Amino acid sequence: MTKFDLPGCRAKEAGRKYSAAKMALWLMPLLAVSIVLGCHRGSNSLQAAISIQPANLLMFAPLPAAAPADGITAEKVNLGRKLYFDTHLSDNNSISCNSCHDVANYGADKGHAVSIGHIGKPGGRNSPTVYNAGLQFVQFWDGRAPTLAAQASGPMMNPVEMGMSGTDAVLALLRTSPEYLSAFRNAYPAIKDPVTMDNATDAIAQFESRLLTPAPWDDYLRGNENALTADQKDGLRVFLRTGCAACHAGAGMGGNSYQKLGAFTDWPDQKSDTGRLALTHEARDAMYFKVPLLRNIDQTGPWFHNGQVTALEDAVRLMAQYQTGHELSSQDVGSIISFLHALTGPLPAEFAQAPAGAATQKASGNIKQGGAANTAAGKVE
Ligand code: HEC
Ligand code: HEC
Repeated sequence: MTKFDLPGCRAKEAGRKYSAAKMALWLMPLLAVSIVLGCHRGSNSLQAAISIQPANLLMFAPLPAAAPADGITAEKVNLGRKLYFDTHLSDNNSISCNSCHDVANYGADKGHAVSIGHIGKPGGRNSPTVYNAGLQFVQFWDGRAPTLAAQASGPMMNPVEMGMSGTDAVLALLRTSPEYLSAFRNAYPAIKDPVTMDNATDAIAQFESRLLTPAPWDDYLRGNENALTADQKDGLRVFLRTGCAACHAGAGMGGNSYQKLGAFTDWPDQKSDTGRLALTHEARDAMYFKVPLLRNIDQTGPWFHNGQVTALEDAVRLMAQYQTGHELSSQDVGSIISFLHALTGPLPAEFAQAPAGAATQKASGNIKQGGAANTAAGKVE
């Protein structure tokens, strides 16, 4: 187990009753689902025989063809992709969006609990994946950016992030590049001076909106019963029965709401990162985070906002315990993980590597080891 599974944090009785009552209210539909499914622990063969009623899948949806983005064009996507990989947009030419969201590695900062560049920020956060991120109702763990475009303006423009001395420096650099000039003109032909920060972030957002990973789960939701293995279907039952779908639903399996981390039992660490409280200063927002997507979740560890959980088994067990009040057996944890594997899809071949001629270092993974660590200190995004 991880350091989060602290003894003494297993439910303080008074608090538990209060939150249990609250939870019961909105877990009602899930309760009904589990009754319909007739699931009982340890009766896997029986479960396998009962097919899952379509009505129980209504809270989910297959991935759309592209995440919503206004006026998407190939020119904008290509420009956004170029910008996304461009290390010239950082002050020492060492860091790009891809450094912390490696699209060849499921869009996350593989192996890093918190991204380099967060140095100096107390309670630094784990870099979420950019794959399917456009499906979310807001961006960031605390939802402080309403859209992908709003999110993208952060890293480049903020001098302590990718290290540029602000908008002017970025734009000056883009305007002096004939390649960028023509790429901007092609992408935004109706605009006289197309090299603007708004267009740059719009293009990045358009590129990101193409980063979708259809998975066996989508085939299943579209009616192909065989798209999930028997183990995965068992896992889906345990997922539903445990109440995971109360928060992780919709096309992304999350990304639709803010929820309290520790909805059932207080999360052990109430101090290092208080979630939305730090943003809104409203007491009721304490420990509220955006519910993250579960798509490709078996590829994007370490897990949670601080990346402190390094085994998916532990993440599932902690979720059951702190979010739903269930102590899962190892069998049930394994079952849920089987189901989670069905949420992982192949990376889109056309976007999963740097574009030809991108101004990026060869292996994005190496970038982080160098000077970026020192220059990008401070609050990221
Ligand atoms: C130094 C590492 C780093 C760099 C560089 C970086 N990011 Fe991030 N990114 C992060 C971290 C960490 C978070 C989460 C921060 C938070 O939620 O408070 C994040 C959050 C995001 C999110 C929100 C995802 C979600 O699920 O909420 C998107 C989208 C994103 N970044 C895209 C970009 C783009 C586009 C760029 C380049 C313009 C970029 N990032 C550059 C580390 C980085
Ligand atoms: C009450 C809402 C709620 C319920 C129920 C819930 N979760 Fe979560 N889940 C969250 C929130 C909020 C987070 C973000 C935690 C954080 O801030 O680190 C999260 C995070 C996760 C993560 C880590 C995601 C990442 O990118 O690091 C996994 C895995 C996960 N949940 C799986 C599950 C499973 C499996 C269940 C059922 C056993 C479940 N969740 C039930 C709200 C919920």
